[in-house]
Amino acid sequence: MQLKDIDVENKRVLVRVDFNVPLDENLNITDDKRIRAALPTLNYLLEKKAKIILMSHLGRPLKEISKSPVTSHQSPAQKYSLKPVAKRLEELLGRRIEFLNDCIGAKVESAVKNMQSDDIILLENLRFHSEEKKNDKEFSRQLANLGEIFLEDAFGAVHRAHASTVGVPQFLPAAAGFLVEKEIKFFEQILKNSQKPFIAILGGAKVSDKIGVIENLLPKIDNILIGGGMAYTFLKAQGVNIGSSKLEEGSVEIARSLLEKGGEKIILPSDHLIADKVDVSAHLKIVEKEIPDGWLGVDIGPQSVERFKQVLKTAKTIVWNGPLGIFEIDAFGRGTKEVAEFIANLDCLKVIGGGDTAAAVAKFGLENKMSHISTGGGASLEYLEGKELPGIAVLR
Ligand code: 3PG
Repeated sequence: MQLKDIDVENKRVLVRVDFNVPLDENLNITDDKRIRAALPTLNYLLEKKAKIILMSHLGRPLKEISKSPVTSHQSPAQKYSLKPVAKRLEELLGRRIEFLNDCIGAKVESAVKNMQSDDIILLENLRFHSEEKKNDKEFSRQLANLGEIFLEDAFGAVHRAHASTVGVPQFLPAAAGFLVEKEIKFFEQILKNSQKPFIAILGGAKVSDKIGVIENLLPKIDNILIGGGMAYTFLKAQGVNIGSSKLEEGSVEIARSLLEKGGEKIILPSDHLIADKVDVSAHLKIVEKEIPDGWLGVDIGPQSVERFKQVLKTAKTIVWNGPLGIFEIDAFGRGTKEVAEFIANLDCLKVIGGGDTAAAVAKFGLENKMSHISTGGGASLEYLEGKELPGIAVLR
């Protein structure tokens, strides 16, 4: 069932959104991308005169509550409240949002009962209730009772089998919102219908996060370009001295077998920007191949950037997940920036995974030059691993 085929007029539509946005210590939202990504669905529902009830998680509050003492000057109840999101959403939509202090209970039920067409309610963080993560049936039922139709628009959370993602749709007619529809469209195109040459760029700190992605992509792909912290475990597996660079000892063997399986498809950096510490004041050098002891790789080197560009220039499809260096420090961000700028100017399908890669593309001001930037970090990785995402499977 598709959203466009559902009659939502005057109906209570319960929408799972991913408003898990970063907040600074004064509870200001530092990146509202995920809120803006929900607007197409919300504007459509407003146009169709639905009653909109929004639910989301924010962070992992119960983890912090179980830890003591709490170190932040904000209590977990403040720090993980969705209240700042309600304010930002009001600004973006130019209309009032009723924010409720809980997501279930008598007050919530009565507020929902009194809703008029095109009213919007935002419920408090679902994860203040431990039942959310446990996919508790009774909690799911209480949430489901608030709506008449369920929409899944939280792409960032569809890899979680929680009450709000898989429990609620057991009780209500359910469909994907426009964001989830769009994310699925791009990932399906990449995995099932990609035009060749199809190139993946993988980076980021951890090899263990990307093993499943490499295994799933190898048969479909022309090349995998590897950079970032994870590259050093692969280089170690080839017997290259990596100095004090990031190493995942436990993944060296699997890296070696992936290199064997991938053969020439897998391309590792041939030179590196190395530093004597991870700090803006570090001493820096470019080296080829071996990294001396006491130094660590913080970015791919210029020769590797050129090699990556050579491979990328004829691509018809590119998927990128994980930065190629520690781009948060400007001096270590050149590889990521140059590759991002190069891709930005290519005329092909360019899909960027969420999380750090999305942050890098935003930092370099290239967001509008990509075909799609996923709003899901973990979810986009699991999609690329070929896993079934429970929040999507349940809609089928
Ligand atoms: C994310 O930020 O990747 C999603 O909002 C999911 O959050 P989680 O990893 O805490 O489930």
